[in-house]
Amino acid sequence: IAPLRLGIAGLGTVGIGVVKIVQRHADLIAARSGRPIVITAVSARDRSKNRDADLSAYAWEDDPVALAQRGDVDVFVEVMGGHDGPAKAATEAAIAAGKDVVTANKALLAHHGQALAEAAEAHGRVIRFEAAVAGGIPVIKALTEGLAGNRISRVMGVMNGTCNYILTRMQAAGLPYETVFEEARQLGYLEADPNLDVGGIDAGHKLSLLAAIAFGTRVSFDKVELEGIGNVSIEDINLADDMGYHIKLLGVAQMSGRGLEQRMTPCLVPAESPLGQLQGGTNMVVLEGDSVGQIVLRGPGAGEGPTASAVMGDAIDLARGCRVPTFGIPAAQLAQPVAARAATP
Ligand code: NDP
Ligand code: HSE
Repeated sequence: IAPLRLGIAGLGTVGIGVVKIVQRHADLIAARSGRPIVITAVSARDRSKNRDADLSAYAWEDDPVALAQRGDVDVFVEVMGGHDGPAKAATEAAIAAGKDVVTANKALLAHHGQALAEAAEAHGRVIRFEAAVAGGIPVIKALTEGLAGNRISRVMGVMNGTCNYILTRMQAAGLPYETVFEEARQLGYLEADPNLDVGGIDAGHKLSLLAAIAFGTRVSFDKVELEGIGNVSIEDINLADDMGYHIKLLGVAQMSGRGLEQRMTPCLVPAESPLGQLQGGTNMVVLEGDSVGQIVLRGPGAGEGPTASAVMGDAIDLARGCRVPTFGIPAAQLAQPVAARAATP
């Protein structure tokens, strides 16, 4: 049986995590996929960089676009990041060259998801992005597959582990925002542009992708009401605590007669509730469907292993022949959402 051949663009935290899983679990993956999954080629900026994996068996491309177009690549794995530049160019090139795509890049899809999904479908290809939302938690699969028989009424949750770390650490240690922000930087938690995390942008990207699948609408990140955690003071946290609440950067997307409401803002949640108790870099996503009721998914939202786990789940699905459209229904059928502002702050 012909193997499924991956070309991996990006050999940082996530890319190296994927290499390790492919190498460690070759037999298990082949058994579950019905065919081997192999890596044929890789790309990153700096070929001479020492990386925590043996890459000697793989062809090297300096240019991710060239990687995406290689004849020995069936699936282009985009784990570079950035919503324009090489990630977008290489993803477009991969689709045009007839490759399926697996990406962890929420920024790319939040900005260009509709166009990329349309292009993919025009070429008979699919884009999978389980890793892009809530890291290791299989929330995309839950929405597109397990809950596909439900009308979804609401999606909500904590989707940025860094913000959750900062808020829970402020709470637990009584430390001011600036001190904990600096700790998070030292621990390597923050994105290269920290405003993506603390400005709520990264979490807003994720919410907009979930909303598209949940409500069958085009990704509309520009309509997400966004407020980051930069203005949350230790006094706010202590006052909330006195009243029995914790502050969380909470995303809510819901569809009503007024339209699609999407907001990602610091919120008071009851201290003893599952959301209130959510610690550190953990994520939690709550899905509500008319038949199933409420589903709560909780787990690691970032990191090498969890994120690579989600990428590999997508690759295995492709090896098995799964062809679920990018956002659950064909891109051309996604409705233009009417944006509604939150009824309550
Ligand atoms: P890193 O910064 O660790 O790695 C990025 C990789 O991309 C590096 O290997 C870098 O090369 C390579 N790269 C960057 N620009 C180029 C370019 N122009 N051409 C070729 N290669 C390039 O990022 P992560 O692994 O952390 O993240 C990757 C993606 O996964 C992002 O979209 C991120 O948002 C997403 N993600 C990450 C999570 C995490 O926990 N880290 C969780 C969920 C999603 P070099 O090494 O040579 O510099
Ligand atoms: N910066 C993100 C977070 C990484 O802290 O959740 C995972 O998407």
